[in-house]
Amino acid sequence: MKTVHIKASTEYDVLIGRNLLSSAGEKCASLFGKCRAMIVADDTVAEIYLETVRNSFENAGIPAFDFVFPAGEESKNKDILFEILEAAAENELGRNDIMVALGGGVTGDLAGLASALYQRGIKLVQLPTTLLAAVDSSVGGKTAVDLENGKNLAGAFHQPSLVICDVDTFATLSEKVFSCGMAEVIKYGVLFDRELFEETKNGITDIEKIVEKCVVLKGKCVAEDEFDFGSRRLLNLGHTFAHSIEKMSGYEIAHGEAVAIGMVMASELSAEIGICDSSLADEIRSALIKNNLPVSCELGFEEIRSGMISDKKRNGEEIAFILPESIGKCVIRNIKF
Ligand SMILES: NC(=O)c1ccc[n+]([C@@H]2O[C@H](COP(=O)([O-])OP(=O)(O)OC[C@H]3O[C@@H](n4cnc5c(N)ncnc54)[C@H](O)[C@@H]3O)[C@@H](O)[C@H]2O)c1
Ligand SMILES: [Zn+2]
Repeated sequence: MKTVHIKASTEYDVLIGRNLLSSAGEKCASLFGKCRAMIVADDTVAEIYLETVRNSFENAGIPAFDFVFPAGEESKNKDILFEILEAAAENELGRNDIMVALGGGVTGDLAGLASALYQRGIKLVQLPTTLLAAVDSSVGGKTAVDLENGKNLAGAFHQPSLVICDVDTFATLSEKVFSCGMAEVIKYGVLFDRELFEETKNGITDIEKIVEKCVVLKGKCVAEDEFDFGSRRLLNLGHTFAHSIEKMSGYEIAHGEAVAIGMVMASELSAEIGICDSSLADEIRSALIKNNLPVSCELGFEEIRSGMISDKKRNGEEIAFILPESIGKCVIRNIKF
C-alpha cells in the first residue's frame, strides 16, 4: 500500500492499494475512535460494494447506515443534497460521526458538500471507486452540486479526513468510465510531467503507481494554493471548455470526455495565439485517442462559447484559460472570449 500525505489546512493521508475496502472500517476506527458512519453511494456502486463497506465498518465497531441515490450527473443537484442532509438528521448523525463517500466524483462531490454543511461540518472519508475520483475529485477538498445555470455552482471547500483508494474497484468500471479517468491522468501529464504523459500512450501497467503520481501532483497544487486563487487554477486545464460542453450537451457528454475535448480546444487556442506549436495539439489528440477518448463534439463554437459566458454580465470580459506551452508546462492567460 502507498500513502500520500496531503498538507492542506487539514492534513490527511491518501491510502492507495489493493483490497482496501474490506479494512476501511478498521482504519477509520483507529483514526477516529468511537463514532457512527453514514455511507453515501449511488445505486450502481451500492449494488457492488456497499455490503463489503458496511460490514467492514460494523466489524470494526462503527455502526453504519446508508443513503443510496440514482447514479449519474443528474443526481448532483440541490434536491439529492438536501435528501442526504435530512437522512443524516433522521438518523441522528452527530458532530463526531463521519460521512463516507463511496463512489465516483458525483458521490464525492455530493457527500462532500453534505458533510461540509451538516452541523456546520463533520468529518468526511472518501472511498473513490472510479479512476477519476481516485486521481482527482477525492483529494483537495472541492465539493459542489450543479445548479440549473451551470456546473458546480454551489459548493464549499471541505477537506476529507482520510481517503482510501482501493484500485481493485476499477475492475468493475465500464471502459468509458475508466477512459474518463484517463482524461484527468493525461491532464496531469500535459500540466507537469512528460514521463507520465508518455506512460498514458503505452497502456497502463501499474495503476497504483499512476494514481500515486497524480495524487502527489494534486497534493502539491492544493498545498500551494488550497483556495484556488493562484497556481491550483492550472488543474482547470480543459475545464473552462469542459464545463460548458457538459452543460450544453445536457450532461450527455461525461465530465472526463468533456475534459478531453476541452484540452484539445485549449491546445488549439494556445497554438492560435502563438504560445505553442500546432504539433502539440496533435500530440495531445493522439494520446487521448489511444485512450478511447473523444477529441471533438457536435456542439458548435458559438454554443460552447455561450455556455462559457452564461452570466451575461461577464460577456466581453476576460476568462482565464490554461494553455499548454509544451508537454509538462502550461500557462494561465486571461483572454477576451
Ligand atoms: N471535486 C473535484 O475536485 C472534482 C474533480 C474532478 C471531477 N469532479 C466531478 O466528478 C464528477 C465525475 O466523476 P466520475 O466520472 O467518477 O462520475 P460518477 O461518480 O458519476 O461515476 C461514473 C459512473 O461510474 C459508476 N461507477 C462508479 N464506480 C464504479 C465501479 N467501481 N464499478 C462500476 N461502476 C462504477 C457510477 O455509478 C456512475 O454511473 C463530475 O461531476 C465532476 O464535476 C470533481
Ligand atoms: Zn475534472
